[in-house]
Amino acid sequence: MKKVGNHKSFSKIFFSLAITLTISLNAFSQDAAKGKEIFNANCAACHKLDAKSTGPALRGVEAKYDKEWLYKWIKNSGELIKSGDAQAVKVFEENNKVAMTAFP
Ligand code: HEC
Repeated sequence: MKKVGNHKSFSKIFFSLAITLTISLNAFSQDAAKGKEIFNANCAACHKLDAKSTGPALRGVEAKYDKEWLYKWIKNSGELIKSGDAQAVKVFEENNKVAMTAFP
């Protein structure tokens, strides 16, 4: 009798793990799809993933800078450049001083 009980609770745990995994994988691919949509609508005019366009190629850019800097840059790169942020000024000068759109 005891064995049957254990077996039941094992399948219960296994089943809820499977559901949790399915839900989180689903949420992840929805996030990825949303990101792609945002990128295509706002960034793709000037950025490609693997080649220079108006702006630099963006694949792997999250590893190049820290997250907070990236947020500031994307929200308003002009302001960051004006503030004298050395990294921002460098990126700006290396790309022929073309202004990037602000995304507040
Ligand atoms: C109007 C063109 C334009 C648009 C639209 C644009 N960018 Fe940019 N982006 C640039 C340019 C040009 C640079 C290079 C720096 C400069 O000249 O200001 C740049 C630089 C960057 C950098 C720094 C890259 C590096 O390797 O140093 C990141 C990150 C970035 N852009 C992200 C984005 C994201 C995310 C979006 C969309 C939300 C976006 N950009 C939309 C033109 C654009």
